[in-house]
Amino acid sequence: MLVVDFGAQYAQLIARRVRELRVYSEIVPNRITAGEVAARRPAAIVLSGGPKSVHVEGAPSLDPEIYDLGVPVLGICYGAQLIAQQLGGVVGRGMRGEYGRAKLRRSGPSLLLPDDAPDVHDVWMSHFDAITAAPDGFAVTASTEDAPVAVLEDDRRRIYGVQFHPEVVHSPYGMAVLARFLHERAGADPSWTMTSVLDEQVARIRSQVGGRRAICGLSGGVDSSVAAALVHRAIGPQLTCVYVDTGLMRKGESEQVVETFRRNMGIELIHVDAGARFFDKLAGVTEPEAKRRAIGEEFVRVFEAHTGGLVEAELLVQGTLYPDLIESGGADGTASIIKSHHNVGGLPEDMTLELVEPLRELFKDEVRRLGTELGLPDEVVWRQPFPGPGLAVRIIGEVTPERVALLQDADAIVREEIAAAGLERDIWQAFAVLADIRSVGVMGDERTYGHPIIVRAVTSDDAMTADWARLPHDLLERISSRIINEVPGINRVAYDITSKPPGTIEWE
Ligand code: XMP
Repeated sequence: MLVVDFGAQYAQLIARRVRELRVYSEIVPNRITAGEVAARRPAAIVLSGGPKSVHVEGAPSLDPEIYDLGVPVLGICYGAQLIAQQLGGVVGRGMRGEYGRAKLRRSGPSLLLPDDAPDVHDVWMSHFDAITAAPDGFAVTASTEDAPVAVLEDDRRRIYGVQFHPEVVHSPYGMAVLARFLHERAGADPSWTMTSVLDEQVARIRSQVGGRRAICGLSGGVDSSVAAALVHRAIGPQLTCVYVDTGLMRKGESEQVVETFRRNMGIELIHVDAGARFFDKLAGVTEPEAKRRAIGEEFVRVFEAHTGGLVEAELLVQGTLYPDLIESGGADGTASIIKSHHNVGGLPEDMTLELVEPLRELFKDEVRRLGTELGLPDEVVWRQPFPGPGLAVRIIGEVTPERVALLQDADAIVREEIAAAGLERDIWQAFAVLADIRSVGVMGDERTYGHPIIVRAVTSDDAMTADWARLPHDLLERISSRIINEVPGINRVAYDITSKPPGTIEWE
């Protein structure tokens, strides 16, 4: 199924919802031509919502010949208005608009609205203009107070439009509307599951790689882990993974990478224990950007040194995801980007390896499901986002092996306690930060002069904005007392109550 993009955010959400209905979907730019659509032979097309008015100069449009292809079309919000405008209806301007919940009222028999939806039910609206007259051949099957044509249907040509947003949770019958359109009106088979993705990708990887050898830089993160496991499933011993251990990982994570990949999955894994080299480069460096640079440069050197030996490798496996491609403008499947798994300066520029990107069609939640399907443990599949330069960005001041060890211990307590409280999946990231200040305290009869640990826990959907997590006070208390009792040199724990913006998630 193709989602025509009239506003990226809307299009992504629709694409994900369609996939939840087990129909594979891809986002395409609105400049796509009827010829290009026909060549892809989609089961259906959805026109997304968008921020513009169809009346403004330069408003995005659709190649009108697409309506003549015989492929079922569903327009949502802006998409519905475009259908009305392009096929001869009227879109009124300067109307009152509706934002938020509205009452949708049936006004005729509908093939799109589910039978069990009451005659009047809630839908989510966000529009200014509204369709005032449907084009010839369309039945108007529902309206709201400010949208006289809220649902329009031409079942002969199989073209439909809804003014509301079926893709958001605030439209309780929205998924049922999408399901009706996809499964019934368009006859799309609900067969796209993670099992089918796995089988299809394994076949694709095998045909791309043939008898050649591939390498994969593992970071321990979800994307590279799932990509590696998937490629290994396809080509077995032709894959070699390289894990550069910077010494800056969270406690136990390096062991976990080795355990998961080498022992459990039997993947050939080169574990480069390079901590000492990184600490060498970080000695005396306190400025955040200088730290990042030092780590990035060293990473490339270490990676090169250890893949240089793999002379016969011709392919590089990368965990590029679908949103990475959309954001870099390559959603139409042409562009390919090198995404550095470590984000620590990227991989060597002169590396001339052919890319294998088996996750490039998937959203993050799908990658997680695929990881589970491949047998990866929950700790890998549900791992929190973690910065490429690792704990170095959570240490204010100089990064030394001793300070990293101390932070690892405090950080492990934060994670353990949050997991014990069952809050792991509600929280986007939770971690400890080590500051380079000291303050006075008392422990027993002794005066102490120690460092504080700052605990940071945030909720977020995409890391662009975040809020500090309202952790229960007794949980904060357990975290605080355990850190002070168990981690030598720490005499104070503070909780960061800054949202993003104005703060950032990490401390540097
Ligand atoms: P900030 O601190 O800018 O972080 O609010 C936003 C998100 O990005 C993660 N982060 C990084 N991820 N390489 C990465 O791959 C990095 O250098 C890096 N720095 C920050 C951070 O953990 C948060 O999820």
